[in-house]
Amino acid sequence: MRSDAPACRVRPMKPSDIRQVMEIERQSFPNTWTRTIYDRELKNKLARYLVAYQPLDDSAPVPPEPGIVGFVRRVLRREPLPRERILGLVGLWCMMGEGHIVTIAVRHEHRRRGIGELLLVAILETALEAGQDGVTLEYRASNREARALYEKYGFSQVGLRARYYSDNQEDAVLMSTPPLRSSVYKKLIARRVAEQRSRWGESYPLTGALTRLVTPLASG
Ligand SMILES: CC(C)(COP(=O)(O)OP(=O)(O)OC[C@H]1O[C@@H](n2cnc3c(N)ncnc32)[C@H](O)[C@@H]1OP(=O)(O)O)[C@@H](O)C(=O)NCCC(=O)NCCS
Repeated sequence: MRSDAPACRVRPMKPSDIRQVMEIERQSFPNTWTRTIYDRELKNKLARYLVAYQPLDDSAPVPPEPGIVGFVRRVLRREPLPRERILGLVGLWCMMGEGHIVTIAVRHEHRRRGIGELLLVAILETALEAGQDGVTLEYRASNREARALYEKYGFSQVGLRARYYSDNQEDAVLMSTPPLRSSVYKKLIARRVAEQRSRWGESYPLTGALTRLVTPLASG
């Protein structure tokens, strides 16, 4: 069992998370959403956003917001200091029974510790709760980490959009899950969650919360 799993939890994103979410996006993507877009997205009834977070205890130093904006904010104390460190985010649009993952990213220094998987499983569960039959997404053709993650969770390629990304003309690969309610797919997810539990220990944060995706293996 690995011991360097961050003790994180998953919950819906709140407006006060946006600053840290934007930090993670800047580390992760060439083009990022603005605060205004996030403010709007958090009010969008068809969208669901989750974050993985680590509570900071009162004695732990709060990581300072970098840059001149952070400096000014610290001096003016216009925003309360965060008591949680946001480690990753994932977003889903629910469109006529088909969920679409619009973003997923993990803070750079916390990658390769299972947080991407955690967020992916949590958003698949959220998609089921929201009545979606399947989930699609697209990623840059050169993004091998993303492809490995999605394949591990049963996504398969369903299309290619040539020169989709305007910054470097890169192709987008489209992927889709099998039907979320199919017993084969639920068994795959349950198996992956069980692997994560034995890898990260009983503290693996999602196990108790997953009812729709994981129950079938446990009971069957
Ligand atoms: C893709 C991303 C979200 C993965 O998050 P992560 O927390 O590092 O991933 P995990 O530790 O949960 O890894 C889960 C699986 O993803 C795959 N994976 C993740 N990082 C990988 C890497 N560097 N190389 C190869 N496979 C990788 C593996 O299949 C891994 O399973 P394994 O540990 O059994 O090998 C993260 O790399 C990221 O934020 N990238 C930048 C943003 C991005 O590209 N998002 C996707 C856009 S569509």
